Amino acid sequence: MNIAIAGTGYVGLVTGVCLAHIGHHVTCVDKDKEKIAKMSQGISPIYEPGLEELMKENMDAKRLHFTANPKEAYANANVIYIAVGTPEREDGSADLQYVEDAAREIARSIANDVIVVTKSTVPVGTNERIKHIIEMEKPPYVRVDIVSNPEFLREGSAIYDTFHGDRIVIGAENEEAANVIAKINEPFGIPIIKTDLRSAEMIKYAANAFLATKISFINEIANICEKVGANIDDVAYGIGQDHRIGPHFLRAGIGYGGSCFPKDTKALVQLSGNVDHPFELLQSVIKVNNRQRVILYEKAKQVCGSLYGKKAAVLGLAFKPNTDDMREAPSLAIIERLLADGVRVTAYDPVATEKAKALLGDRIDYASSPEEALAGADLAFIVTEWKQIVELPLSVFAQQMATPLIFDGRNCYALDEAEKHGLQYVSIGRRA
Ligand code: UGA
Repeated sequence: MNIAIAGTGYVGLVTGVCLAHIGHHVTCVDKDKEKIAKMSQGISPIYEPGLEELMKENMDAKRLHFTANPKEAYANANVIYIAVGTPEREDGSADLQYVEDAAREIARSIANDVIVVTKSTVPVGTNERIKHIIEMEKPPYVRVDIVSNPEFLREGSAIYDTFHGDRIVIGAENEEAANVIAKINEPFGIPIIKTDLRSAEMIKYAANAFLATKISFINEIANICEKVGANIDDVAYGIGQDHRIGPHFLRAGIGYGGSCFPKDTKALVQLSGNVDHPFELLQSVIKVNNRQRVILYEKAKQVCGSLYGKKAAVLGLAFKPNTDDMREAPSLAIIERLLADGVRVTAYDPVATEKAKALLGDRIDYASSPEEALAGADLAFIVTEWKQIVELPLSVFAQQMATPLIFDGRNCYALDEAEKHGLQYVSIGRRA
């Protein structure tokens, strides 16, 4: 199969690399010439474990190519994946301009029959709009089928997820087109669910909304646990053993971030409003999450009163471990509040520092180790559960900090351990 991929963001690049790895001939397209030049040298524009190695391997095998010229890639493709961004508009709805531009570009470039597959997360009805756009501008002798094939990979474990996903969803109007896409994916050995276009689009939003709901739910239970003297770790384990609930996505913390949950939950709320069925449950999920993102700061204020003039160490900047992605990272919300209160902040992150610098500049200091960030600090905030942070011995806090007061948003340590080290330790959903 000759496959072209429009967009080399997270989804596009990982999809391209993995499809090449299972034997297809893949050309990844991006308008950003600088990015294409880098990728053509085997350099990944994002930090994702295993991605660069797999990229190089498939480039060497001549299965994976990069180009800034869409016409060149689309003209000979049997299948074209759309994997461009669908950023959030001011009103929370998904901005479809990049998807629509890609559809127009495809229509103007193709010379043979082609299947267009949407990987981008798009509101229900978008694939029909893509079809309409392409039909309007394509050559009359070319047949185009549209397939919705939403993505379920997680940043930080994107390669693993692509090869070990729970299901592959294929939505199509035309069964033959669905079968071609199923065949392309066959080597992954993952169960395939076939459905119509609108249901496939809805599956993606419903999945992310449900996972976000689980997180806000457990965070609210954690907040109640604190008030009633229960322990969230035991409570989450206890409910997770019920197979109807399941043990996953029950880690209480500082709310969900990243490029997907915040954007997709808002887009679904917007969509539900448009069809006159306001999704009230999801509105609450978002509200709870906005509160939870700054809960460590609120706790610090409760303990200290004024934070003015204090020195804080922020451990972890990325929205989750194993990624350098800073989009909607809770660290940003916490740091902004600390800075507004006159706190001096030194942050450590093993990978995301450069991306954080682009957002925060010299308003904070950056450390190259947790020890350096903690040196002389009055307060420590544990924000991202990187291995380098989770495995930090508590003695380091005791040795390095001026006053060992820790606010842990990821429940990294046992309460009695913290006590043994003489640390004042405040975590989530457990007694202070
Ligand atoms: C999420 C979904 O998990 C993927 O299935 C989906 O494909 C992706 O969005 C997307 O739509 O593209 P991702 O945002 O990369 O993936 O990362 P997750 O591991 O889901 O974490 C999202 C956020 O939830 C993080 O901020 C994480 O810290 C938080 N989280 C997750 C919790 O607070 N508690 C948990 O138990 C799990």
